[in-house]
Amino acid sequence: MGMIFMTGLSGAGKTTLADGLKTKLKTFGVAVEVFDGDLFRKTVSKDLGYSATDRRENIRRLAKAAHEKLVTGTIVIVAAINPFEDLRVQLREQYNAKIIWVSCTLSVLMARDPKGLYRRALLQDDHPEKIKNLTGINDPYEIPVNPDLIINTSNVAKEKSIEQLFDYVAGILNLGHTKFI
Ligand code: ADX
Repeated sequence: MGMIFMTGLSGAGKTTLADGLKTKLKTFGVAVEVFDGDLFRKTVSKDLGYSATDRRENIRRLAKAAHEKLVTGTIVIVAAINPFEDLRVQLREQYNAKIIWVSCTLSVLMARDPKGLYRRALLQDDHPEKIKNLTGINDPYEIPVNPDLIINTSNVAKEKSIEQLFDYVAGILNLGHTKFI
């Protein structure tokens, strides 16, 4: 099993889905770990910003850390925006990553906006709180060309989305046959 890579815009639900999947997998006795972009940026990647170069470096570090876990036999779920298609393709080739696109419309993201990032990105240019490179608003997000799974979270209860992700991963891991709950 390679790594499970959740890509998508901020607020789309990557972390929620990753954590939900982890909880479900654990009930099957599967060793599983989540690497989350937001948390990673507070530790290993705290020197990095949001330029293309820094985002690429962040993904490279995430993938490296995830791979180190992966070789111990742990299932690794990575949740990060990763806006670059070439990097996703590379992750698939290098680490046998499954690319899960957590998709959500901008209008829903702007309505959710738990961190106020979308509001700030839409402020006028000279506003002191303006964010100038928010992915999906004023920084690019390359649509995944051939993802292994698309989860649209726009109008779906999170339990349903977690179920959809779990069903996909359980199929790969053949968990259906060893089910004990
Ligand atoms: S990535 O582009 O390098 O893959 P990553 O997933 O690690 O991004 O981090 C994204 C998180 O950083 C967002 O969820 C958000 O909380 C925060 N963030 C702050 N500024 C930005 C920005 N300009 N663009 C995207 N995310 C931002």
